[in-house]
Amino acid sequence: MKISIVLGTRPEIIKMSSIIRECEKEGIDYFILHTGQHYSYNMDRIFFEQLELPEGKYNLDVGSGNHGAQTGKMLTEIEKILMKEKPDVVLVEGDTNTVLAGALAATKLHIKVGHVEAGLRSYFREMPEEINRVLTDHCSDYLFAPTEKSRRILINDGISDDKIFVTGNTIVDAVYQNMKIGKEKVNPLNDLNLKRKKYFLVTAHRQENVDDKSRFQGIFTGLELVSNEFGLPIIYPIHPRARKMMNEFGLKADGVEFIEPIDYLSFLQLEANAKLVLTDSGGVQEETCVLKVPCVTLRNNTERPETLEVGSNILAGTNPEKILNTTKEMAQKNINWENPFGDGKAGKKIVEILEQEGYT
Ligand code: UD1
Ligand code: UDP
Repeated sequence: MKISIVLGTRPEIIKMSSIIRECEKEGIDYFILHTGQHYSYNMDRIFFEQLELPEGKYNLDVGSGNHGAQTGKMLTEIEKILMKEKPDVVLVEGDTNTVLAGALAATKLHIKVGHVEAGLRSYFREMPEEINRVLTDHCSDYLFAPTEKSRRILINDGISDDKIFVTGNTIVDAVYQNMKIGKEKVNPLNDLNLKRKKYFLVTAHRQENVDDKSRFQGIFTGLELVSNEFGLPIIYPIHPRARKMMNEFGLKADGVEFIEPIDYLSFLQLEANAKLVLTDSGGVQEETCVLKVPCVTLRNNTERPETLEVGSNILAGTNPEKILNTTKEMAQKNINWENPFGDGKAGKKIVEILEQEGYT
């Protein structure tokens, strides 16, 4: 019995890491198939090295491209490998084009599909990830829902309850496993000359934000308002898509310090010690909730409503005044919420379920 783990981008590497570690520990027959959707050193290899993950058995080097071209290339190449390797189950995580291609290639070959982080919905179909989530959930045989809420979403979508397993989100595993190691190994606050709780951290890279000049400008103006109001440093490790579009649109933001995307251990330390995080990232909304740091989400919707319900997060969109006002509100926030994403053992639970199903 053999498992294929298909991944291709930064968040998938991070969120699959606890499952990979569990497979290694249990001596399971598995292999990693990397699509190469992300390929820059600081979006890809750095995470394998730092998290001490084994190399992918395959790297498809698919790289960047329009949605159809990128997904199509992956589908063709993943199919060839799955036909050769004949795994019994393919695991995918999240909502990227890699996830859709992996799930579709496998299901057409009658290979079982396990979707880690199933049942998330923003109900915003212009978001490419929303299409990927819906389609992947419907191709999957094992739906690993992070919360009861995501389980109910799947049931409302007509997916049979016996395919759904509420496991928690593997991001909690990643945070718990790497926070302690990070404290000993890295000191980004020192490197960037920052004081604990005396700076803001920003990430923004969503296609619907950074490829749209007026929305991206709205975020930058909002950050300038935050800088003027609080007089604190604002650190933005900028995703390559956002860097490219910022240059193309000729945008600037006074008071914002742009740095290259950074390694996971350092990013976690920066997040945990920030006064507040502003982001449009899915994973960062979850991590801030787990780390008990207030979050302002630079979007009009979220597929992580649990964070709004517990009060760790608020939706600001990209209107500058709204960004400032929500930041002021969240900066006052009582940090007394419970983490809704599980106990940090999601990876172990997922592997145990596959073992019980006879896949290992
Ligand atoms: C992808 C995912 C998104 C996820 C994000 C994680 C889809 C539809 N989008 O978005 O859900 O949140 O990854 O970070 O799958 N680039 C580089 N180096 C890289 C990768 C990308 O320079 O290693 C640049 C290229 O200019 C590329 C652009 O970033 O054109 C976008 O890359 P792409 O893979 O299309 O999507 P992401 O925005 O990274
Ligand atoms: N992250 C990182 N370095 C950075 C920015 C983010 O290691 O410079 C991590 C972050 O901790 C989280 C993940 O990348 O675990 C989120 O990925 P991203 O925002 O690219 O994708 P999304 O979660 O939105 O799909």
